[in-house]
Amino acid sequence: MLLTEIDHVAIAVKDLDAAIAYYAEAFGAEVHHREVVDSDGVEEALVKVADSYIQLTAATRDDSPIAKYLEKKGEGLHHIGYRVDDCAQALESMVAAGATPIDKEPRPGSRGTTVAFIHPKGSFGTLIELVQENL
Ligand code: CO
Repeated sequence: MLLTEIDHVAIAVKDLDAAIAYYAEAFGAEVHHREVVDSDGVEEALVKVADSYIQLTAATRDDSPIAKYLEKKGEGLHHIGYRVDDCAQALESMVAAGATPIDKEPRPGSRGTTVAFIHPKGSFGTLIELVQENL
C-alpha cells in the first residue's frame, strides 16, 4: 500500500478570509499554514486535523486552475491529496495502472512538499494529488 495518510482535502473558495473566518467560528479552527503558490496562481490556508489538513484554496489570478474551476463549478471540493513516501514511485504506479497524469514528473508543492496531480478522467472522477512530505 503506497498511501500513508489523507494529506489534505482541498476546497475551492472565492474569498479565503471569509472561509477561514467560517472555519474558525464553526470549528474553532486555526490556520496552521498559509501560502501563496505563484506557479499555480493560488493562495492556500491549511487547517490541521490530526495529521491531515483541510486546504482552503482561492485563486490569485484569473487564469489559475482554481479560478476556472470556480467559474465552471462554483465553490466546493476540488481535490484530495494522498500522502505517499515516494511521489515518483506512486506516480509511476498510478500511470502503470492506467491513470492519466497531469504532472509527468513530481514537482514542488506547498509546505516544501513534492507533488504530482492525476487527472480525474481515469481516476473515477476525482482529481488526485500525490503528496510527499520532505521533513
Ligand atoms: Co493540494
